Amino acid sequence: MKKAKILVIDDEKLLRWSLQQNLAKEGFSVITAENGTSGLQLFNEEQPELTLLDIHLPDISGISVLEKIKKDNQDAIIIMITAYGDIRTAVKTIKIGAYDFVEKPFNMDKIKILLDKALETSSLRKEVHQFRTQLSRKYGFKNVIGKSNEMVKVLELVKKVSKSDATTIFLHGESGTGKDLIAKVIHYEDRRSDKPFMDINCTALPETLIESELFGYEKGAFTDAKNVKKGLFELADGGTIYLDEIADMKLSTQAKLLKVIENKIFKRIGGIKDIVVDLRVIASTNKNITEIVKKGDFREDLYYRLKVVPIYLPPLRERKEDIPQLVKFFIDEFNNEFRKNVKGISKETEKYFLGYPWPGNIRELRNVIERAMILENADYILPQHLPGELLSNDLHVKDIADSQIKIPPGGMNIEEVEKELIKQALEQKKWNQTKAAKLLGLTRDALRYRMQKFGFLDEKT
Ligand SMILES: Nc1ncnc2c1ncn2[C@@H]1O[C@H](COP(=O)(O)OP(=O)(O)OP(=O)(O)O)[C@@H](O)[C@H]1O
Ligand SMILES: [Mg+2]
Repeated sequence: MKKAKILVIDDEKLLRWSLQQNLAKEGFSVITAENGTSGLQLFNEEQPELTLLDIHLPDISGISVLEKIKKDNQDAIIIMITAYGDIRTAVKTIKIGAYDFVEKPFNMDKIKILLDKALETSSLRKEVHQFRTQLSRKYGFKNVIGKSNEMVKVLELVKKVSKSDATTIFLHGESGTGKDLIAKVIHYEDRRSDKPFMDINCTALPETLIESELFGYEKGAFTDAKNVKKGLFELADGGTIYLDEIADMKLSTQAKLLKVIENKIFKRIGGIKDIVVDLRVIASTNKNITEIVKKGDFREDLYYRLKVVPIYLPPLRERKEDIPQLVKFFIDEFNNEFRKNVKGISKETEKYFLGYPWPGNIRELRNVIERAMILENADYILPQHLPGELLSNDLHVKDIADSQIKIPPGGMNIEEVEKELIKQALEQKKWNQTKAAKLLGLTRDALRYRMQKFGFLDEKT
């Protein structure tokens, strides 16, 4: 493996020479400068992995060289060379961002150990940095597709909240409309982006586990608590915690959550010490939460606290003008992933896409494209590459056209028509909500929402 490049900035010729000899023997590539100005220049030209920098230089002070390098290269690893006993200055340099310091005259073996440790840190820092850049590239605004009025409004709101101090945000909308994506975008477009994004699915974990995941526990808090464990609230400090499917959280956990949101203070399970955190909490659900609150399964106070900043993601069938752009986005994504060169969808396929109600929303659209691109090897996605439900929907579209719903000359009340169609569907399917929803191209929740609106829920359920 190629060893790192090290820059030595020191005015003592003998010291430069001895470092060069010794470190070259270890396989490092060493470059040297005899004063601050040429040191800075060499740093910029060569971008060394590590710099050994003398505090006392003939032209500018080592401290100002350190400040200059750190200003533009936050992750640079710099080890200061200080005079024996000059601890105060050494400590000052650490505060500015030096990695460590060594005192003159120094022991070569010690220096080698220090260099190895520092370089390990440097490569870890680089990895973290790369990882974060990848994530913020993946979860930036440019990866949220949508030019429809509905999505433009959503994105404006998302931009505002990600830059604001709003600490609780509530995302709601049907399954597959992009709630997880938006939660990540809010985090990665925010000043919090270099802090953790922690997510937890409240459905997946039983109540007792959710609490220990969220709050952590002290050693001995319960039989299995052999050691202290930090919870997600503590681990996400400074960043964001995303509570997915919040509607499935049990009432007792909800009470504790409300306290954390309001006071930013909590205790580990079995603990007495208050832990203070600075967090943004994003909660999401694809359920009709007002109904759940009414039933008493979700605390009203928590609901009001959460929905201070609500963001509603509209279903895809209400923003079909976004379909062509989404299709292009996903085709590009899978061309990259599968090393293919699919050019687009055929005109006929586009008709099916625009006619279909997409009950699984954007997730379903993405899956349909992924499936077609995995299974088929054509330049364009054709109707024969689509799953059955998309094609059979065509019949419904034609049926509707054939049944000739015409607006009467005197106008009509669209709510009344909607109510009538919902009633017909429910009657036709003997009040089976899942089947009636399918008949109308709605999700069951969307149907229930309308049933509630038109007073059908109280009648039959
Ligand atoms: N506007 C968008 N632009 C690009 N991709 C999107 C958009 N909205 C959603 N997606 C993609 O669609 C898929 C489903 O989105 P996501 O997981 O965020 O949905 P969700 O609302 O959290 O669903 P659920 O309620 O089932 O958890 C993901 O792959 C996501 O990246
Ligand atoms: Mg989700």
